[in-house]
Amino acid sequence: MGVAGGIAAYKACELLRRLLAEGHQVRVVPTASALTFVGEATWAALSGQPVHTEVWADAHQVPHVQLGQQADLVLVAPATADLIARAASGRADDLLTNVLLTARCPVVLAPAMHTEMWSHAATRANVATLRERGVLVVDPDSGRLTGADSGPGRLPDPAELAAVAATVLDDPGIAVRGATQDLAGLSVVVSAGGTREHLDPVRFLGNSSSGLMGWALARAARLRGADVRLVAANVDRPAPPGVTLQPVTSTTDLGAAMSVAATTADLVVMAAAPADFTPAAASDTKIKKSGTGGLQLDLVQTSDVLAGLVAARTDPRQVLVGFAAETPTPGTSLVELGRAKLARKGCDLLVLNEVGHGRVFGQSTSEITVLSPSGAAGPVTGTKDRLAHLIWDAALAERLAR
Ligand code: CTP
Repeated sequence: MGVAGGIAAYKACELLRRLLAEGHQVRVVPTASALTFVGEATWAALSGQPVHTEVWADAHQVPHVQLGQQADLVLVAPATADLIARAASGRADDLLTNVLLTARCPVVLAPAMHTEMWSHAATRANVATLRERGVLVVDPDSGRLTGADSGPGRLPDPAELAAVAATVLDDPGIAVRGATQDLAGLSVVVSAGGTREHLDPVRFLGNSSSGLMGWALARAARLRGADVRLVAANVDRPAPPGVTLQPVTSTTDLGAAMSVAATTADLVVMAAAPADFTPAAASDTKIKKSGTGGLQLDLVQTSDVLAGLVAARTDPRQVLVGFAAETPTPGTSLVELGRAKLARKGCDLLVLNEVGHGRVFGQSTSEITVLSPSGAAGPVTGTKDRLAHLIWDAALAERLAR
């Protein structure tokens, strides 16, 4: 883990802890200016490893070559404008730039700097050069910077960066997709979470969707350069960096938000779990018990958001992806259930997964099969972050085939 000299170096301590908690061995290579923000003792104590800045320490072990050669991943957070410039021009004037030149593993840079520096033509050109060479440069987050100013330039949340690192370690090909920005120029919309249908001001009918898959899809698309809108039903989690979050509550709200967002979208993924039924009439006041009797609910069907998007589609190149969480039924295979749903919904791809018996909801891993009218890919098991990239691969291939 490289650390360059920016105030966000303090957040890298949290990132380091997360990487260690996941069981990785981390050697920290700060630049000299990084040490003015966080001292060597902090990095050494947290990582449990020696920390050097220059190439001259332990020269007999040739650390300036070994560290890069032996790493499975080089992650620089924060990467300052100066570090990015030195990396782009191939300088080798400290240990970190030597590591970058000798690394043959995936390299991820997480820039953090003032907005003016990030948008400067020199930095834009340097980032483009690094991406062309296969370096995954994560766009910075937008928000409050060191002073009173705000804008793009914040280091993304350490949890987000740890998720990117885990995904790239899991599948190094994802760094290539991120570096080439293969979804750049595309507008994508993802729905996530589970809707709530209110019975009265305090009670609702809902489901156990965690929103994790939708979050992974949004994060993956943004990493690959797409413009991303996440329409989220009742998910209490900050949006991934650079993603526009639109909260909704009920299936009706979700349908309204999706139909507007989809009019300008190139790729749409319905990962949300909308309620299929809603109370025929919600009570304005809290429903009271009356005696010892039960309560009969009168429910009506909600409209099918995905089928509505298929019917309203005007751009023939737009790709619509649905999800189907199915429980196995005696006599019918999961794929048969999925095929029937794909035909009924009329979408282009259907991501099929098995639920029930504690599977899927709220877990960070899943097993999916991607169905298209002409075939099936899978089943593939993996983290939701990794599966999200496979879903975008399939959606992009579908779009390019048109
Ligand atoms: N979906 C939707 N609108 C609904 C219900 C579901 O757009 N009112 C979408 C989901 O987001 C998902 C896909 O349709 O992408 C399949 O959802 P699922 O609940 O499996 O299908 P249903 O149509 O509800 O069918 P079932 O009767 O099997 O529940």
